[in-house]
Amino acid sequence: MVIAAGHVVPQAEAPAALTFPPSFIWGTATAAYQIEGAAALDGRTPSIWDTYSRTPGRVRNGDTGDVATDHYHRWREDVAIMADLGVGAYRFSLAWPRIQPTGRGPSVQKGLDFYRRLTDELLDKNIQPVATLYHWDLPQELEDAGGWPERATAERFAEYAGLAAEALGDRVRTWITLNEPWCSAFLGYASGVHAPGRTDPVAALRAAHHLNLGHGKAVQALRANLPADAQVSVTLNIHHVRPRSGAEEDADAASRIDALANRVFTGPMLQGAYPEDLLRDTASLTDWSFVKDGDLREIAQPLDFLGVNYYTPTLVSGGAAETSHGSDGHGNSAHSPWPGADGVSFHLPPGSTTAMGWAVDPTGLYDLLVRLKDDFPQLPLVITENGAAFDDYVNPEGEVNDPDRIAYLQGHLAAVHRAIQAGADVRGYFLWSLLDNFEWGYGYSKRFGAVYVDYPTGKRIPKASARWYGGVARTGLLPGPDSDQG
Ligand code: FCB
Repeated sequence: MVIAAGHVVPQAEAPAALTFPPSFIWGTATAAYQIEGAAALDGRTPSIWDTYSRTPGRVRNGDTGDVATDHYHRWREDVAIMADLGVGAYRFSLAWPRIQPTGRGPSVQKGLDFYRRLTDELLDKNIQPVATLYHWDLPQELEDAGGWPERATAERFAEYAGLAAEALGDRVRTWITLNEPWCSAFLGYASGVHAPGRTDPVAALRAAHHLNLGHGKAVQALRANLPADAQVSVTLNIHHVRPRSGAEEDADAASRIDALANRVFTGPMLQGAYPEDLLRDTASLTDWSFVKDGDLREIAQPLDFLGVNYYTPTLVSGGAAETSHGSDGHGNSAHSPWPGADGVSFHLPPGSTTAMGWAVDPTGLYDLLVRLKDDFPQLPLVITENGAAFDDYVNPEGEVNDPDRIAYLQGHLAAVHRAIQAGADVRGYFLWSLLDNFEWGYGYSKRFGAVYVDYPTGKRIPKASARWYGGVARTGLLPGPDSDQG
């Protein structure tokens, strides 16, 4: 028996499907370094991820993005798969070192041509292209000049944004400046589990500010080069932070992590100021004098929506630091990605976990969307990433059956539906990811795709979840938890 809304429903009666608004956008997402390969082709220069992945000991199994899923050559097939599934939008990222090698000077036609061909094909198949300018592949030469901790990188980023918009603005109407600047700043420069692998907490805080500044400048460069109806946004991995108990020290821990994970970006970008508690909590590290007059005005540009990536909630406690508990889910490092939050411990939330060891908890997504609606009532929301890695394999029949992923997606989409009913203005959902791909420090060991990739041959096999998701995307109807749509 299943209990639904206070009634006892006989199990044979499948729970009613949930209906999404007709205008809701259904998409899939990828990122350049994770899928393209062709690392040295057509003028592309190394990014920080090429350098990092080629450094022994940094990425599991010594994997690199040199070939990845070979999307640079197989893009037509990948678009055909999306068209077959019936998704209406595709979020991908532009490789900065392909378009503007070394991060300076004029754009390279061959690099731009790749994205022109890709977007033409998408439009031809009625799939709306959504371009992210920066999904972590900073040109290595800019890192050599100091990287994101240096102010000049923000200027370079705005210049690149202008070049990209000028070249692709006739095809791409939806633009995202940065993907998850938290990871760029704090995993890249504090814990070092992402490129460029530095472990300097002050550099991480400086990087956070210059990413904010780069975002603000890039929004202006985009608007100056795009038609008036273009949509411009940023994607944040807003952490849904929960205190382990009602104790004051746990509430304090949650608020510190909320400041370092979320408000360090939403403060300046959406409210025009860094939060007071963040400045206080980090005061022993820096006086924030790298924030110059006028920066905050420049960062707080009006946005058309906020891109939200969500995978799992974050559970914390304060008081005496405990060492025996789960990590914060962002890889293992002797160095914390949380400058100024030394006494905070991270715990594995209850419930089952994915192959990443991340707890499956759709209530975190619901709570997060409702909080964003309350905090920023005028700002439409788009889920720009959500999905899960599981240990998928090809069975003797040549199929990949992934019921755990279907259950994950079902639960999270039901949470999105509930949030919409509670008044959250959620406009779309992008499944991470279209393809299995290079999962950063985990290399190819984690499979997030709706489509399985056999790396030795490059062969694509849509998983059961791909067919299931295609059905949802085509109809706008989300079946109940147990219905078998695979
Ligand atoms: C996000 C990244 C994306 C992918 C997923 C699993 O943090 O934006 O590239 O790695 O996690």
